[in-house]
Amino acid sequence: MRILYVISEADPFIKTGGLGEVGGSFPLALNKSGIEVRVIIPKYSQITPELTEKAAFLTSFEVPLGWRRQYCGLQELVYQDVHYYLIDNEYYFKRSHVYGEYDDAERFSFFCRAVLESICRFSDYKPDIIHCNDWHTALIPVMLKEFYFSDPLFFNMRTLLTIHNLKYQGIYPWQVYFDVLGLPEGGMCYQRFSFKDVINFLKAGILYADRITTVSPTYAGEILYPYYGEQMESVLAGKKDLLTGILNGIDYGKYNPRKDSYIYAQYGSYAQKLNNKLGLQEDLGLPVRPEAPLFGVISRLVPQKGFDLLLHVMPQIMEMDVQLVILGDGEAQYENSFQYYTRLNPDKIAFMDYYDEVMAHKIYAAADMVLMPSRFEPCGLTQMIAMRYGAIPIARETGGLKDSVIPYNQFTGTGNGFSFANYNAHELLDTIQRAVGVFHEQNDRWETLVNNAMHSDFSWERSAKQYTALYATLLEQLS
Ligand code: GLC
Repeated sequence: MRILYVISEADPFIKTGGLGEVGGSFPLALNKSGIEVRVIIPKYSQITPELTEKAAFLTSFEVPLGWRRQYCGLQELVYQDVHYYLIDNEYYFKRSHVYGEYDDAERFSFFCRAVLESICRFSDYKPDIIHCNDWHTALIPVMLKEFYFSDPLFFNMRTLLTIHNLKYQGIYPWQVYFDVLGLPEGGMCYQRFSFKDVINFLKAGILYADRITTVSPTYAGEILYPYYGEQMESVLAGKKDLLTGILNGIDYGKYNPRKDSYIYAQYGSYAQKLNNKLGLQEDLGLPVRPEAPLFGVISRLVPQKGFDLLLHVMPQIMEMDVQLVILGDGEAQYENSFQYYTRLNPDKIAFMDYYDEVMAHKIYAAADMVLMPSRFEPCGLTQMIAMRYGAIPIARETGGLKDSVIPYNQFTGTGNGFSFANYNAHELLDTIQRAVGVFHEQNDRWETLVNNAMHSDFSWERSAKQYTALYATLLEQLS
């Protein structure tokens, strides 16, 4: 079974968030499980030269894009036993940002068409399935069926589209359709792109793909309803039979407190974890106090992540004997508010308004709890990484958080975290207070909880098996 995995980011080449994390770790797991997977990504100028230097030039060609023909260089390299292809075009990918450029619609249309043109030129490799991810690659199923339907190379090739976050859909004016895409004007294709007065890349991708997945079973159900559907609920409901939710995993090699070289002290049990807390408190200028519960926030600061709830009850939280370490950047409203509370409570809060991989590992290792009050969360990886490091998630029951955080039951000692149902600041506060209560109890309950979390299994193997079964069903339909 040959899978071509197409994604706009893949760690360690490029990563802006969870997508890049998955783009880096999922193919490795798939490869280990015996699937022949190859990955194709844009060659952004942000990729470190040490990684791209090893890439071999394969060929170059011109990619049609509306009335344009644009250069594309195809490069190949092997990293951790996986083949990567890089789509090279400096005009589109030598930019200051990975996303948010004025011509993203054109940049990712180019990427999609370049992937299909690359497939025509692979000498020794013909994928059975093209596995696409999010709106950046959603045009591939469309273009395959509209431009390559008469090419025998593509006759039996199947497409799968994974939605990592329905919030981002690739919505553009019709001008893009006429000027950039060069797709049929009118007819079915036209209707499939149409979304109110504009066009929608993800909508078209969903309607053309052979199968659709999203990154947790709960999110797969949630997006069929308006609250989570981002106005796509009826489109998705129409495709319900082709939609599956498969929970992401995390890379257990990269996130391993026993071997992690970024943290203060490596550990395999709760007792040894404490040195990390003391180390971080000291480094960040917080009072070195093992008995004060330490909360971590490692997140992009965007409305999705639910920090409105946290900020709403911040005065009450600051009355408690706790410490809060925040790592992440994003919207100014959140950055400013966290800065404000940090100035008021320098002994309780440390706020780093940027993202740093090493610091993230240190916080996972040091924190007693990690806050994830998300408004919605397609999967969420932070809670899984946190649990691996024995930091207990406090999460809202939505999407992948609901599928991975099992609420602690003080009577049976089962569970791996704390959770609350409604998007309500006081439910968050109650949950924080309950967690702090268990933390302070003079018995081994907290330790049991930490052990439960550390032994929860969020490795990729399980998800890779589910994807393999799904690929098989897609191909069975052919025979
Ligand atoms: C997006 C989602 C997040 C998910 C990640 C990887 O970033 O917001 O919930 O974990 O994609 O699938």
